[in-house]
Amino acid sequence: MTEVKEIDYGPLQELIGVWKGDKGMDIAPEPDGTEENPYYETITYTAAGDVTNAELQVLSVVHYRQIVTRKSNDEVFHDETGYWLWDPREEVIMHSLVIPRGVCLLAGANHQNLKDEEDNVIIEVEASIDNRDWGIVQSPFMQNNAKTTAFRHKIIVGNGKMSYSETTMLDIYGRTFEHTDQNELSRE
Ligand code: HEM
Repeated sequence: MTEVKEIDYGPLQELIGVWKGDKGMDIAPEPDGTEENPYYETITYTAAGDVTNAELQVLSVVHYRQIVTRKSNDEVFHDETGYWLWDPREEVIMHSLVIPRGVCLLAGANHQNLKDEEDNVIIEVEASIDNRDWGIVQSPFMQNNAKTTAFRHKIIVGNGKMSYSETTMLDIYGRTFEHTDQNELSRE
C-alpha cells in the first residue's frame, strides 16, 4: 500500500484553497497624485508538498496565484505568483513573490503564533532593500524609476474567511509613496 506523507503546513494550512473577494482597494502612484482602484480578485493557494535544503531544512510549500481585476473596466491589472513556505522546526514563514514589472522579493518573519479574538490565524511578513535576510530584487529600470524599498504583508485567516493588507513602499516620481492593497475574501 502506498503511504501518503503527512505534511505539516502549520499556519499556512488555513490558506489552502480558492479564495474570492470583491471588496479590494488599491492605492497606487500617479505622476501628479494618487490613484484609487476598487478591485475584485481570485487567489488560489495550492498545497505543493515539501522540499529539503542542504539535507537539514525541510520546508512545507504552498504555491499561490493572485489575479486582480479592476472593477471600473473588468480588466486584470495585477497578476502575482510565488510561494509561501513554512519551516516548522524554526517556526519561520517565508513569502516569495514575483510581479511582472521586473520585481521580486522574499519576505519572511518568525511566526508569532498570534491569533485574534475569533481564533483566526495572523500571518505577517516583511522585506526591505536593506534587510540582509528578507530582501528585494528589481531591474535596473525599476531601481532608477520606481524602486520598491520595503514591503509588509499581514493576513488574518480562519473559518473560511480571510482579510489581508499589504504596503509596498516606492520611490517614484521624485517622492516616497505608500502603495497599499487590502481585501476581504471567502473560500469557495
Ligand atoms: C493587489 C495588489 C496590487 C495591485 C492591485 C497593484 C496595482 C498597481 C497599480 C494600479 C499601479 C499603478 C501603475 C499602473 O497603473 O500600472 C501599481 C504600481 C506599482 N506597483 Fe503595484 N499593485 C499591487 C501590488 C504590488 C506589489 C506586491 C508590488 C511589489 C512588491 C507592487 C509594485 C508596484 C510598483 C513597483 C509600481 C510602480 C510602477 C508604476 O506605477 O509605473 N505592487 N500597482
